[in-house]
Amino acid sequence: APAKNDDFAQKPAAIPDGVYAETVLAVEHYTDRLFRFRMTRPAGYRFRSGEFAMIGLMVGEKPIYRAYSIASPAWDEELEFFSIKVPDGPLTSHLQKIKPGDTVLMRKKPTGTLVLDALTPGKRLYMFSTGTGIAPFASLIRDPETYEKFDEVILTHTCREVAELKYGFGLMEEIRNHEFLAEIVGDKLKHYPTVTREDYPFQGRITDLIENGKMFTDLGVPPLDPAIDRGMICGSSAMLKDTKELLEKAGLTEGANNKPAEFVIERAFVG
Ligand code: A2P
Repeated sequence: APAKNDDFAQKPAAIPDGVYAETVLAVEHYTDRLFRFRMTRPAGYRFRSGEFAMIGLMVGEKPIYRAYSIASPAWDEELEFFSIKVPDGPLTSHLQKIKPGDTVLMRKKPTGTLVLDALTPGKRLYMFSTGTGIAPFASLIRDPETYEKFDEVILTHTCREVAELKYGFGLMEEIRNHEFLAEIVGDKLKHYPTVTREDYPFQGRITDLIENGKMFTDLGVPPLDPAIDRGMICGSSAMLKDTKELLEKAGLTEGANNKPAEFVIERAFVG
């Protein structure tokens, strides 16, 4: 039978070669700026907790990709991502509309510096995040290896508004209720959420709370010590720069995959 015009209009663009095409399983919207989604994990796809992938969609005839930290741990059979929604964002303006059953593209090789291998052994691991910068830590706090390597794990998450903290609270609840993680994590994990543009019990930028010592008082821990403390930082460029300066002032040095040291940094995806 002759094709109707509609058939042409709705024919999906061909998936490019050499990338995975995965199926969206679940989508949860937190605010008008934030959402998470889960999708199928390709058979044989390996990554280290904390790494990022290039995630994309066909927009018209053309794929558009952006770097996304994988928010699920390496053992999970699905993949999770936490995303901002930018109204005119080349990718996120489309990605924010995905529904279960839709196709999301992913390039084959994950990479990144926010991995346990890039840190020298220590006792206490700080994960400093702002906004969607919590994503790589969502992966790492759900990985048993983190608790094999560290006695104490402190996740700081600073957002403009209280509603933006919800993903982090959801993660804590998931861990507490998880059949095997709950026991492995025990009381090793501390969550330190702070807000900068609304009233909240814990208020202020993490950089200010480190500088004035309030973070340490609130958590009941001693000041930063390069002999035992390790750090991972994920946020905007300005946040990375300012937090890195404070860690360096405390005597910690920046590491990389091929040269482990006391802290590592990675820019959170924006736009
Ligand atoms: P603030 O409200 O004072 O700008 P954004 O959504 O712009 O990425 O910000 C996320 C959070 O990061 C906000 O709470 C913001 O605080 C904070 N922030 C922005 N810049 C810095 C910085 N240079 N150092 C520490 N925190 C920052």
